[in-house]
Amino acid sequence: MSNNLLTGKKGIIFGALDEKSIAWKTALACHTQGAQIVLTNAPVALRMGEINKLADAVQAPVVGADVTNMDDLKKLFEESQKHFGGGIDFVLHSIGMSVNVRKGKHYTEMNYEWNQKTFDISAMSLHKVLRTAWDMDALNEWGSVVALTYIAAQRVFPDYNEMADAKALLESVARSFGYHYGVRKKVRVNTVSQSPTRTTAGSGVKGFDAFIDYAEKMSALGNATAEDCANYCVTLFSDLSRYVTMQNLFHDGGFSLTGVSEAVIKSIIPPSEIENTTA
Ligand SMILES: NC(=O)c1ccc[n+]([C@@H]2O[C@H](COP(=O)([O-])OP(=O)(O)OC[C@H]3O[C@@H](n4cnc5c(N)ncnc54)[C@H](O)[C@@H]3O)[C@@H](O)[C@H]2O)c1
Repeated sequence: MSNNLLTGKKGIIFGALDEKSIAWKTALACHTQGAQIVLTNAPVALRMGEINKLADAVQAPVVGADVTNMDDLKKLFEESQKHFGGGIDFVLHSIGMSVNVRKGKHYTEMNYEWNQKTFDISAMSLHKVLRTAWDMDALNEWGSVVALTYIAAQRVFPDYNEMADAKALLESVARSFGYHYGVRKKVRVNTVSQSPTRTTAGSGVKGFDAFIDYAEKMSALGNATAEDCANYCVTLFSDLSRYVTMQNLFHDGGFSLTGVSEAVIKSIIPPSEIENTTA
């Protein structure tokens, strides 16, 4: 259903790998709400060819860009401005990759060269995207930039490994650059902290099935789906959230503020003992 929340808006969406990707669902939701889109992903991801299906569905050009490469980013913004015939209103940064996780390195045995690459792709890339837009003055006044993150930036989830540190850095970049971009051009920058979601990146986390079941039990509303995350991003790109900036916004069904839930207690303590405890 469309409320035309993004009619007339033009945006770049990073990170649609396949139909499960949060970026994929966000592109569909933005298109439904009337936005014009440019899709982008790393050249290696584009070679898989899946993105062309999405490009057809949302009538968007696809421009390859490695998010760590400033020349690629400049070309992406130039081509996007040319395509739109003007400035850009919103950007979704939906990118994450951990080299140490991929190579099975435990957090305590981290390879620091791989760690630099992880930080570059998963966190400093947001700075690079914002810096490129800043240098080119490519974002329109009241523009909106959203990057996706996870609560491991605030709390320990041991198997999330170095990505926890990457997400903490990502959230800090959003805050710091959000300040400067707000002052200069009323552009807002936020991170959305999403529930665990079954995607290619998500499933890379060790023990993901147990992880997602636990989060489901710990969230009053249950885990937020990728489609709901996409809809939330739409509201942040729309004019209905113009004064929200420099925030880390939890989109997690209540998980972040729950100490323990009845469902979790029931799953670890036999019912007879619960009765004794509450009597
Ligand atoms: N899935 C989850 O459980 C979950 C939860 C919270 C936050 N997130 C975050 O959501 C975002 C999107 O992930 P997803 O779950 O949709 O998985 P996904 O695997 O579909 O998306 C990750 C994307 O990052 C892209 N990418 C990797 N290296 C790149 C590079 N050098 N240049 C450009 N793009 C590159 C990949 O091609 C892919 O499209 C990530 O930031 C992730 O950390 C995911």
